[in-house]
Amino acid sequence: MRGEKIEALRDVSFTIDKGELVSVLGPSGCGKTTLCKVIAGLIKPDSGRVIVEGEIVKGPSPERVMVFQEYLLLPWRTVLGNVELGLEIKGVPKDARRRKALEYIKLVGLEGFEDKYPKELSGGMKQRVGIARALAVEPKIIIMDEPFAAVDAMTRTLLQMELLRIWSKTRKTILLVTHSIDEALMLSKKIIVLTKRPGRVKRIIHIDLPYPRDPFNYKLQNIRKELWKLIEEELVGEAYGRKISCSIPY
Ligand SMILES: Nc1ncnc2c1ncn2[C@@H]1O[C@H](COP(=O)(O)OP(=O)(O)OP(=O)(O)O)[C@@H](O)[C@H]1O
Ligand SMILES: [Mg+2]
Repeated sequence: MRGEKIEALRDVSFTIDKGELVSVLGPSGCGKTTLCKVIAGLIKPDSGRVIVEGEIVKGPSPERVMVFQEYLLLPWRTVLGNVELGLEIKGVPKDARRRKALEYIKLVGLEGFEDKYPKELSGGMKQRVGIARALAVEPKIIIMDEPFAAVDAMTRTLLQMELLRIWSKTRKTILLVTHSIDEALMLSKKIIVLTKRPGRVKRIIHIDLPYPRDPFNYKLQNIRKELWKLIEEELVGEAYGRKISCSIPY
């Protein structure tokens, strides 16, 4: 009905340790983006709270930045200008923000592209700019909402490895929302599996395997099976008014 409120999330509770790379996995529409926005302080939850290092989140802050699927780069700004954006908003003086921006441009592998405009970059490069922009403000937590969903499969694998490299250098706390079980398996210390809408925490899976991970590692294979099962259970049900059921081979 028009104007009716949709409950996106319910009873979602979990903790993320400092410096941890955690994934949120769940079916489409279960509230993952909503959860990101709540953590970023862009949406106020009807109840409950988000606490970052002892402080209750009351609104957006450069301490919690989001990286979006659609890059959200300013087309009239160069790579350097885009990476400097958050630092400008933070009020960092010109020389210092240039230095910092160049440092993170280098870290994400875009040295030499500082003066290019977004239209001159590939999707993967645009996302690197988004990651550099997020890192440059040196936030406490980076919230990535399906950051690699818009790039091709090969670039996605490359960016996943890049993210691991950047994470191991910076040890930032990263919350990564993904639809991809394999992405979550290769990258996360912890996977938070949500149910379909309203999203609730269905299972939290810890993966104590070193990086880089072998996708064929037997422990990872077992977790992959478990994850498929958990997701499969959520995909069985109503879809657009029709009853559906499905079986995913594994
Ligand atoms: N701006 C909005 N206005 C009204 N309802 C919304 C809005 N954004 C999201 N919703 C509702 O909240 C639910 C959760 O949406 P959300 O975007 O958080 O899901 P998601 O898990 O990120 O989905 P996806 O995997 O497709 O990105 C959706 O089912 C949708 O019906
Ligand atoms: Mg989403």
